Amino acid sequence: MTATSSGCFRYVQLSADEFRARLPEALAIYVTAMRYPDGTAEQRAPMWLTHALRAGWRCMAALDADDELLGIAYGYKGRAGQWWHEQVRQGLTRRSGVPEADRWLTDYFELTEIHVRPENQGKRIGEDLLRRLLDGVPSANVLLSTPEGTSRAWKLYRRLGFLDVLRDYHFTGDPRPFAILGRPLPLDAP
Ligand SMILES: CC(C)(COP(=O)(O)OP(=O)(O)OC[C@H]1O[C@@H](n2cnc3c(N)ncnc32)[C@H](O)[C@@H]1OP(=O)(O)O)[C@@H](O)C(=O)NCCC(=O)NCCS
Repeated sequence: MTATSSGCFRYVQLSADEFRARLPEALAIYVTAMRYPDGTAEQRAPMWLTHALRAGWRCMAALDADDELLGIAYGYKGRAGQWWHEQVRQGLTRRSGVPEADRWLTDYFELTEIHVRPENQGKRIGEDLLRRLLDGVPSANVLLSTPEGTSRAWKLYRRLGFLDVLRDYHFTGDPRPFAILGRPLPLDAP
């Protein structure tokens, strides 16, 4: 348990089975943290389950004293053929050329999701989850996508040294502009 002025919580790495068991809880945090509409959880569930089968998948959870989920972060080794990989390669190749796309996309860990319950944000749980998730990841880089605009997520990523890889990018089927951010691994020490 990590005791703080704002409560007690602990960090655990979840196996794929534990992740599946906590999927409704994890999706509930995702939907409230991202302020997505009702029905998003049902739509996302199959995708999250598929992600858990991918090579290099790993997941960190923050749990409170009652063993309830406060936050979750997961990702996996990105590969050619995956939807996100191909979208980013297309955008990066168009904007910066093949060598730059190769530099980022040859060996990376995709940070797919990171969410903390709104009432528990700002207590460094996001940073702790991210540091633990990436600790020992055997990839040259970490990459992520996040909606453009100011947010706690942006503050966290900048604080941890994430750089612009591709800005104002539109994924197919999503009208929102996204930023692709990345940095070499390992992270710098706090
Ligand atoms: C992004 C997210 C996961 C970050 O988690 P978090 O636990 O809130 O992150 P941290 O506490 O590490 O950092 C957030 C804030 O706390 C501050 N903070 C962290 N540790 C601190 C400390 N010891 N002292 C003072 N401030 C601190 C940070 O500077 C940051 O500042 P802000 O309050 O002005 O935003 C979380 O905010 C979230 O779930 N957001 C909604 C969902 C989302 O956007 N997910 C990412 C999609 S790409």
